[in-house]
Order: sequence, then structure tokens, then C-alpha cells
Amino acid sequence: MGKDVIIACDFASAEETFKFLDKFTGKKPFLKIGMELFYAEGPSIIRKIKDRGHKIFLDLKLHDIPNTVKKSMAVLSSLDVDICNLHAAGASAMMKAALEGLTRPDGTRPLLIAVTQLTSTDQETMEKDILIKEPIDEVVMHYALTARNAGLDGVVCSAQEASKVHDVCGKDFLTVTPGIRFADDAKGDQKRVMTPAAAREIGADYIVVGRSITAAADPVAAYERCLAEFVG
Ligand code: C5P
Repeated sequence: MGKDVIIACDFASAEETFKFLDKFTGKKPFLKIGMELFYAEGPSIIRKIKDRGHKIFLDLKLHDIPNTVKKSMAVLSSLDVDICNLHAAGASAMMKAALEGLTRPDGTRPLLIAVTQLTSTDQETMEKDILIKEPIDEVVMHYALTARNAGLDGVVCSAQEASKVHDVCGKDFLTVTPGIRFADDAKGDQKRVMTPAAAREIGADYIVVGRSITAAADPVAAYERCLAEFVG
């Protein structure tokens, strides 16, 4: 898979999701489905979206004991999604078990990427609540390297971290980056944002774009603009 724009479908129901997707006549954007929609609608939402021909990044961020994650990943893999994820904090054994669970009988599997530190966690929270004293960027790079060594395909990271992740983990290790805004957009609740063009410059592999597309007056035009800036 090459560079692509992934639309974050942060909708509360299948109805809202399909109302949005119906605007994209003839186009099949890569979609991110998160916990809200998955928990509201269950696995049927994934099957319906796959039937329409979209690729899916299923953003459920698993984190549990290795055996539970392995079995759960096998279920997600059978839904034929394209990317799954987990928390790197679950550690190497959990990440390796996840890969085993994801691998289908024919040897294929969805890509597996890790969340390092959530962007809602800052240095102070990390030190106070989880007793991690190292600088947060070192923690993020350590988690990324641990994920790579466990055999994962990449990480979710901010666009600001993407080029350092590539330096530390290699160019083939995927960086999937949210926090993307057009130069003329409101930032919303995102603190550190980057334009699709800047994300392309720093070598991000995939950008995840939510409100800049879903809340745009013309979502299809916004998606096309994103593709033009990021993929060219
Ligand atoms: O609307 P917006 O473009 O900010 O949406 C970004 C998407 O990426 C949301 O689904 C959000 O949950 C997700 N995300 C994020 N920051 C992270 C991880 C995921 O914004 N660190």
C-alpha cells in the first residue's frame, strides 16, 4: 500500500456514516472506523462498508493479556479489515500474539500498527499517573522500536514525530498520522496540527483526516484537496 488519505468516520450511527459515504459517488476512500461507531453498530458496519469496496483501518486500540488479544485479533482479521491497531504499552509478547492472531490460514493478514503514547498524554501526566520519567519523545521512539522489533508494520504518531520514527525504525516502518488541517481550517481540539502538504514533505505514509473532510461544506472536494496536497 502506498501513500493515502484515510478519512476518520467519527459518526455515531450507520445511518450517518452511509449518508456521508453516499456523497462519494464513484470514489472509494480509505476509512478509519473507531470505537464509537464499532460499539454502536457492531461488526455488521465493517461488512457493509467492505461490501461497498472501501479499505478499512479499524481503530480499536487493543490492550490486554496476549492470549485475549490474539483471539480478538483473529476475529477482527476475519472481518477482512486492512489495518488494525493496539497499544504498544501492552508490550512485545502481546504484540507478537496479536500478529499470530491476525494471520489468516492463507498466510495473509491486515497491517498491524501500534499507538505509542496517546497525544492526550503529556509529560506531566506520564510522570504523575504512570510513573514514566523519561522525556516523552524518547518514550515514543522506544515504543516504536519495540513495536518494530515485535514485527509490527508501523505506528500511529503525530506528523511532527513521523520523520524521527523513520530515522529510528527505518523508512519502511509505516507512520500513520492524525492531527491534519488545511492551512485555512480551525484547529478544533487538536493542539499540534500539520497540513497535508507538510505531512507529505516530512514523509508520513498515511494521514488520518476527520473534521477537515467530514465537517466541510463539500466533503468530496475537501477529500480531493487532501489527496492532491498529500499524494500529488
Ligand atoms: O477530526 P480530526 O481530523 O481531528 O480527527 C482525527 C482522528 O484521528 C480522530 O478519529 C481521532 O480520534 C484520531 N486520533 C487523533 N490523535 C491521535 C490518535 C488518533 O486525533 N493521537
